[in-house]
Amino acid sequence: MKHFVDISRLSKQSLTALLDVADEMVPLARDGTDIAAGKILATLFYEPSTRTRLSLESAMQRLGGRALGFADAAASSVAKGESLADTIRTVDKYADVIAIRHPAEGAALACSFYSEVPVINAGDGGHLHPTQTLLDLLTIRRELGRLDNLSVVLAGDLRYGRTASSLALALAPFKPQLVCVAPEGLELPPHVARRLRAELGTAVEETDDLAAAARGADVLYVTRIQQERFFSSDDYLKVKGSYVVDKRVVERMPEGSLVLHPLPRVDEIPPAVDDDARARYFEQMRYGVPARMALIAVLLGLVDKDIPYKEVRGEELELPCPNPRCITASEKYLKNSYTPILDKTESLFGELGEGKRYRCLYCDYEVVV
Ligand code: NCD
Repeated sequence: MKHFVDISRLSKQSLTALLDVADEMVPLARDGTDIAAGKILATLFYEPSTRTRLSLESAMQRLGGRALGFADAAASSVAKGESLADTIRTVDKYADVIAIRHPAEGAALACSFYSEVPVINAGDGGHLHPTQTLLDLLTIRRELGRLDNLSVVLAGDLRYGRTASSLALALAPFKPQLVCVAPEGLELPPHVARRLRAELGTAVEETDDLAAAARGADVLYVTRIQQERFFSSDDYLKVKGSYVVDKRVVERMPEGSLVLHPLPRVDEIPPAVDDDARARYFEQMRYGVPARMALIAVLLGLVDKDIPYKEVRGEELELPCPNPRCITASEKYLKNSYTPILDKTESLFGELGEGKRYRCLYCDYEVVV
């Protein structure tokens, strides 16, 4: 594995091996080690963060390395108009591994094309958040003892909540039953739902009845409404406060099941739920450090584990990506690149119409040519 941009590029076997390394890191996240002595992590955060940035830096320091970076791009040369490519070509001279969070979808992949050192995607717009998914999987595996055949309810803003899409795609090889509960307009992005059903053969159900869905859940994964990604404040106000995972919902869940949330929460889980044994979101946060220690250690070759990562090459096409938030819309020197979509069940393509279908290499949006 050279970069870590999209967790769905890891096979079930690779993911399991990475989680095994994370298990070994759990005691070291407390006691520390020096296997990364002399190594430097750069964290480039173009969007707000508490947990992801601090736990990445903590992970690097627990490994014995050091961290540097910025938490606000306004304080970097981006404010002078520097391109992302040039920023990366700068930072890769100063650090051994780079973690980036950026509002544009596909930004981390673009960085990986310009970087001489490994790039970690710490969140790219509403697209993916693979390090969060790694810690979510670690939490589930440690708390429930398995990842296979789970009933997972994804509740909240599944449209813009990158953690929900990332988790759904990463769980696919473990054959989950996914139940989605989202306010109208905030359902899973169509390209994610289609890919899960048609390409990965995942069972994805949708319902409005959160309490009924909770009754059969091994995991209830809750996300906040991603206010910052709405195009208008009216659209946000229409859905604000439209779902609450309160005690009434949680008490219906089986004993030993888990309520998880990537955090921050706003109003979707009231504090009264925190005392329920099923509420594990604070414990989940704790796994952020060992999960990211494992990732950094593997990327830097500090542990003797070969973890293959499927690199995907795109085909350049003179076709602008239809997603206004795609990195190709803002960093104009990037060439539009696509991969052909190979689908098992052609009939599910109805809404995309006839023609050759492609997926944007950067943001995964689908287009028909
Ligand atoms: C999430 C994110 O940034 O996508 N937070 C996190 O990294 N723990 C979820 C969110 O912001 O709602």
